[in-house]
Amino acid sequence: MSRPVPAALTSWLEVLECPHCHHPLGLSDRTLSCPSGHSFDLARAGYVSLLTGAPATSGDDDTMARARDSFLATGAYAPLREAIAELAPDTTGRVLDIGGGTGYYLAGLLDELKQARGLVVDTSVRALRFAARAHERAAAAAWDVFTRFPLADGSVDLVLDVFAPRNPSEFARVLAPGGHLLVVRPAVDHLAELRAAVPGMVGLDPRKEERLHTVLDPLFTTEEVREVRFPLAVSAQAARDLVAMTPSARHVAPDALEELVDGSVTVSVVASLHRRR
Ligand SMILES: C[S@@+](CC[C@H](N)C(=O)[O-])C[C@H]1O[C@@H](n2cnc3c(N)ncnc32)[C@H](O)[C@@H]1O
Ligand SMILES: [Zn+2]
Repeated sequence: MSRPVPAALTSWLEVLECPHCHHPLGLSDRTLSCPSGHSFDLARAGYVSLLTGAPATSGDDDTMARARDSFLATGAYAPLREAIAELAPDTTGRVLDIGGGTGYYLAGLLDELKQARGLVVDTSVRALRFAARAHERAAAAAWDVFTRFPLADGSVDLVLDVFAPRNPSEFARVLAPGGHLLVVRPAVDHLAELRAAVPGMVGLDPRKEERLHTVLDPLFTTEEVREVRFPLAVSAQAARDLVAMTPSARHVAPDALEELVDGSVTVSVVASLHRRR
């Protein structure tokens, strides 16, 4: 007998579109297909790939996604997860988690929003496997955030983007009038101790914040900006995972990681809430 289709995914069917021809998608067995004959099979793990053939421009590899999962499982970023759930507007509708990784923050949000349905979008297969089982009301799909989203106009109530690439015009298109965007990004001093200790770990650009507002302001009104800052005691393993879950890992020699002894790092991020104009 074939595996059941996750209920979380069927609840997104009415707003999903074929990424090739933008017609609605129907479900038969474990395949989504459009009237023009394009079809997309569900992976065994329960997510659906709506990639259009062109390789995704970016995405976490297996090692990065696993490191992220094991780091987040320690609860180290629970204060951030709580801050996101606090800042998010109360919605009973659809929540899209862009570059949602393992689905950690979306799952925390869905615990608070008892009626809402979530969808993690990512290009990392390993991340999507985690995401597909992150929450009973969370589905998972692959598409590239830099392409047109396979979603109907105005079909989403909240877009979440945590440490992930952004596509503001698509966010605005798929959001319903009055819908919200919640963005979380590192502040300049985020993990400063780790960046100092690890040669080659990519630094943060202080002008990023300004650039974010320049691209968001024509499409969104900023309703709230919150700094989330706390010291975090990290074991050597947690420090290694923290490095391994960033693209910096590629530039860091293994012996540099060995030098990361137990210590404390500063978690410093900015979370903001924006309303579609
Ligand atoms: C820094 S991680 C953040 C993951 C998650 N939001 C979290 O904070 O735990 C960035 C995520 O964006 C995904 N990603 C990178 N490029 C992408 C793209 N072009 N389209 C969709 N997802 C992408 C990566 O695979 C990764 O899971
Ligand atoms: Zn089609």
